Order: sequence, then C-alpha cells, then structure tokens
Amino acid sequence: MGCGAVGAALTAALVASGYTAVGATTRGRTRGRAFARRFRVPVCYGSIGPAIGRAHLILVTVGDAAIADAGALLRRSRAVTTGSVVAHTSGAVAASALGRFSGAAVGSLHPLTVLASPKATLARGVTFVLEGDRTAQAALRRAVIALHGRAVVVSPHQKPRYHAAAVLASNLVVALVALAARETDRAGLAGLRPAALGLARAALDAVFAVGFERGLTGPLVRGDLATVQAHLRALDPKAREIYRRLSLEALPLAKARGVESPSLTRLRAVLGAGRRR
Ligand SMILES: NC(=O)c1ccc[n+]([C@@H]2O[C@H](COP(=O)([O-])OP(=O)(O)OC[C@H]3O[C@@H](n4cnc5c(N)ncnc54)[C@H](OP(=O)(O)O)[C@@H]3O)[C@@H](O)[C@H]2O)c1
Repeated sequence: MGCGAVGAALTAALVASGYTAVGATTRGRTRGRAFARRFRVPVCYGSIGPAIGRAHLILVTVGDAAIADAGALLRRSRAVTTGSVVAHTSGAVAASALGRFSGAAVGSLHPLTVLASPKATLARGVTFVLEGDRTAQAALRRAVIALHGRAVVVSPHQKPRYHAAAVLASNLVVALVALAARETDRAGLAGLRPAALGLARAALDAVFAVGFERGLTGPLVRGDLATVQAHLRALDPKAREIYRRLSLEALPLAKARGVESPSLTRLRAVLGAGRRR
C-alpha cells in the first residue's frame, strides 16, 4: 500500500531478491501508473484489489499519518488472509497503529536509510529496525536477510526517540548544510555552494575514518576563541543561534581532544553569552 519512495524501492529490492510482487493500492494515479508499469502488477486507488488476497507480506508504505486509515481499509476489505503479515515502514509509529487482523501478524520494518524518490535504490547493508509480534518479526527478519540488510528489534516505546535521532542524523543534517549554503551566498560567494556540500561529506568521512572526537576539526578543537567570536559577529541571527548551540554541543568532543580547561571556559562563556544577545 503506497507507491512512493519506500514502496517502490522496497518492492524493487524484494523482487530482485526473489519475492514476487502481486499488486498495490495507492492514492495518486501518476505514481500508481509508474508502479504498475515498472512491476507489471495491478494497482488500485482507494480500494483493495483481489491480488492482495494472494500476498504473504503486505507492506504499508504510506505516510505516518495515513497508517491507521490504511489498516482500517485493509480490515474492511477482508483481503488479509490467515498466516500473512501486515507491516508498515514508519520509524516513529508503533506497529499496533495498523490495528489487529484475525489470523495475521502485524509488525513494522523501518529502513534506516534515505530514499528520496520512487527511483531511489535500496542499498545493501542497510539497517532495518523491526517491531511487532513474534511471527511478524520472524517474517520481516527473513525479508531483511534477503535484502542483505541488518535487522535490529526495538520496542514500540523506543521508536519516537530513536526516530527523532534518525531525523537529527539525516534530515536535519540536510537543513544544516542548506543553512551553511545560504550563509555562503550571503557572504557573496554563491559559487562556493558545491564546495560547502563537499565539505559536509568530508566532515562525515573523517568521522567514519577516525570517530567523532578525532574527526572533529576547526576552531573549537584548536581553542581558537577570536575566530569563534568573529563567526558569531558575522552570522545572520538565526544562523548564529544554531552555530552557538551546536558549538556548545561540540565542546565535550573538544575537551576529549585535549583542549585545556581555561580555553574551554572562555569558549563556553562566549558561546553562552550569545544566548543573551
Ligand atoms: N523516504 C525515506 O527515506 C523513508 C525512510 C524510512 C522510512 N520511511 C517511512 O516510509 C513511509 C513512506 O514514506 P515515503 O517517503 O515512501 O512517502 P511517500 O514518497 O510520500 O509515499 C507515500 C505513498 O503512499 C501513498 N498514500 C498516501 N496516503 C495513502 C492512503 N491513505 N492510501 C494509500 N496510499 C496512500 C502516497 O500517494 P501519493 O502518490 O498520492 O502521494 C504515496 O504514493 C513513511 O512511514 C516514512 O516515515 C521513509
């Protein structure tokens, strides 16, 4: 259910691993038609077609807010057969949001990756966060193995915080780099936008290579107070606030790197003082 980014990427990867796609239900006709052409399956709009009755695994890949309605539609259709598994792909919402299905298992399978459009490809080695009843977990684990992924089981109460952390690590990194690109433009250097993106990748590469503490470079790990003060004066107020808060977050990493206590105290005072500006 749902022919968006995750629906298409998961279907493509599962079909490539030997699963058979039997049909789909979605909302918008453009994506629905593209899905039908690509996977040569019938696609229904706002209703459940007979093909779903043949499905062992029903993936509900609609947006988080539509999961409960999608579950209700499935239940009304009576198409879910005994022994099948219904699973959504949200990282924030509990599997139970789908409701109960007589004789069928219920779970969730959250791919911890970024799928930006229905054309995106699911890479090998992705971590999938699973939740739900035992039967669903076992079936979803088999799917993850087929996808050459890694399965981690969580409980429903862990999901909102885990997913908030995932948003910090992905979507909000995008927002931060977009902010950096705007500040580069405001400095009159719009041509440096691609370089700002490359820099973000290099910073993460360094963390991959040597870890958070040793991967962090810049004025904080050098205890370079005057440079930090110049940055705070130069930035737009919104960017300054984010710079200040993230710098305070980075100070423990700078401390672990051996920045002396007096330097840290001065940096903390300057960064904390920004709050009152
Ligand atoms: N994208 C990611 O990187 C990613 C990664 C991990 C998990 N997820 C999770 O996966 C789920 C789907 O995300 P997505 O990015 O694939 O979203 P998406 O690209 O917006 O796709 C959602 C699809 O569901 C359809 N839809 C919406 N409401 C529906 C309903 N009531 N009944 C049937 N179909 C409906 C949409 O139709 P239209 O074509 O008309 O919009 C669209 O085709 C979400 O729970 C999300 O949190 C996403």
